[in-house]
Amino acid sequence: MFKCQNFNYAVFGNPINHSKSPIIHSLFAKQTGILHIYKSVNVPLDKFNVFLQDFFKQDGQGANITAPFKQEAYFFCDKLTKRAKIAQSVNTLKKIDNKYILGDNTDGIGLLSDLTRLNFIKKNYSILIIGAGGAVKGVLFPLLSFGCSIFILNRTVSNAKKLVLQFYKYGNIDVFDENSSKIKSFDLIINATSKFIERKNNFIPVSLVSSKTCFYDMNYQKDKKMFMNWCLKMGNNLFSDGIGMLAFQAAHSFFLWHNILPKTDYIIDILKK
Ligand SMILES: NC(=O)c1ccc[n+]([C@@H]2O[C@H](COP(=O)([O-])OP(=O)(O)OC[C@H]3O[C@@H](n4cnc5c(N)ncnc54)[C@H](OP(=O)(O)O)[C@@H]3O)[C@@H](O)[C@H]2O)c1
Repeated sequence: MFKCQNFNYAVFGNPINHSKSPIIHSLFAKQTGILHIYKSVNVPLDKFNVFLQDFFKQDGQGANITAPFKQEAYFFCDKLTKRAKIAQSVNTLKKIDNKYILGDNTDGIGLLSDLTRLNFIKKNYSILIIGAGGAVKGVLFPLLSFGCSIFILNRTVSNAKKLVLQFYKYGNIDVFDENSSKIKSFDLIINATSKFIERKNNFIPVSLVSSKTCFYDMNYQKDKKMFMNWCLKMGNNLFSDGIGMLAFQAAHSFFLWHNILPKTDYIIDILKK
């Protein structure tokens, strides 16, 4: 049996040692004065359901779920918020009335909040997303609802096509094809791959990047600078990593659990240092 030893909130993933969520949540607990003891748990790849069942049978009240378990978390829930249902991917779980588990996805509101903070997004923006994994599933509905057009470029084209089929009813979304693209230049380019690798033939024609194009990397680990280096080569300085998204998605999980939205501005500053 998985023992949760007196903590009531946790992030579950594999690997998990890179996670900054315990630091963020301890700062939220301090800020709000709410008893919120939050740890990280490394889950063996075939033990997600067992670990989560044990956690919620013991002291567990809420959980964050990270790669590679967001899809399994979706099937683990008894009920879903609208955005989690549409995303078919869950990053936040909450035990309700000691009876059932509610699933939510706060990645999209987290990204949108940070893009707004940075002034990187406006309605009608054309956005290129590189990647088509679990994180992209979480952000597509909020970005499309905001009024943006989305193009997806992914190593495995069939995964990008699956997302287009899942989300086309919510707005303008397509697989990126440079031969048929009518875009003059992208307003925003988001890296949502877990491993950004430069290609010899580049990703997109340089002509699709203007001096106003913003670049956003969902990654924030110090050793992941490949995308930033590519942006600089494309001649662009409007760049941000994903620390802000991380802080905002965590704040919205905290809100689901405690009905208080903690402040994130100073937390982003602390994490950046
Ligand atoms: N800042 C935040 O709050 C936040 C939130 C969520 C996620 N993230 C970050 O976003 C990244 C993606 O997360 P995820 O959950 O979507 O992961 P995921 O489900 O594992 O998806 C990984 C994506 O990266 C692509 N990829 C992996 N290795 C590649 C390679 N060698 N070359 C080219 N493409 C490659 C995959 O392409 P294929 O389809 O071809 O396999 C897929 O599109 C992670 O690094 C994660 O830490 C950040």
